[in-house]
Amino acid sequence: MIGSGNVATHLGNALRRAGFDVLSVYSRQAAKAQKLADSLGAEACSDLGKVQPADLTILAVPDTAVVWVAEKLSGSHKFMVHVSGSTEMNILKPYAKFYGVFYPLQTFSVFRPVDFQKIPVCIEGNNTTTTDSLKQLASSLTEDVRVMSSEQRLSVHMAAVFASNFVNYLNIEAADILEKAGVSRDILYPLLQETLEKMKEHHPRESQTGPAVRKDHGTMKKHIDALNLAPDKQKVYRVISEQIKRTFEE
Ligand SMILES: NC(=O)c1ccc[n+]([C@@H]2O[C@H](COP(=O)([O-])OP(=O)(O)OC[C@H]3O[C@@H](n4cnc5c(N)ncnc54)[C@H](OP(=O)(O)O)[C@@H]3O)[C@@H](O)[C@H]2O)c1
Repeated sequence: MIGSGNVATHLGNALRRAGFDVLSVYSRQAAKAQKLADSLGAEACSDLGKVQPADLTILAVPDTAVVWVAEKLSGSHKFMVHVSGSTEMNILKPYAKFYGVFYPLQTFSVFRPVDFQKIPVCIEGNNTTTTDSLKQLASSLTEDVRVMSSEQRLSVHMAAVFASNFVNYLNIEAADILEKAGVSRDILYPLLQETLEKMKEHHPRESQTGPAVRKDHGTMKKHIDALNLAPDKQKVYRVISEQIKRTFEE
């Protein structure tokens, strides 16, 4: 396992639970490698040249570091995968005979456990042998395995940025607004829960509510005026409201 961060931790634990042996954990910071290695019963390593060759080498490092790491491991590591949504598979081509992608579509944070069984894993292999091996591996960790091309995975990742990263960011703004009003943010939980539940059964286009879709300009003006001292929030409010109006006019 190359990396000891969010994905390395969750994927390492899922592999361990499924009965796989994680031989080594690499991190540039020895203490971080040691911590994850200890929890996985693996050897810690902070020198890429000393990482034990394994049946599979997982590059769970930032997208910008994938090539640098693959280059350093090239030769002794015959089967490498990266775990990135937006990085094409073929960047690993010069560095391993068997290469591919193992992209788990979830928001991972080291501090929060996840049920890996429910996570869609998008895989891609450089040939049918590689794809079959990755399919088999993924199937032992999750019920949801999807074989897809690098182009499809890029779209999935982009959709995930809209569906999760942007929504989380908007909830930072929401929490801030509530904090300033002296109201606890848990008041939003039933609303957030119902938004998600409704989305599972109906296309989000059918479920849009709020002042923008109702073209309620009076209420929107009140909100925009109330945000006078928060120009960044005002900007986001305006852009998204305009987009909602345009989408429903169409
Ligand atoms: N987090 C998510 O929700 C999520 C979900 C799906 C996929 N991914 C993908 O998973 C990959 C890793 O993301 P992450 O969230 O796990 O990142 P992370 O928590 O920041 O962990 C990255 C790991 O790579 C190491 N690292 C950083 N820069 C490095 C470099 N230049 N060379 C070698 N090692 C380096 C870091 O440890 P040291 O600094 O000690 O070396 C750390 O162990 C990315 O490709 C990301 O797109 C993330």
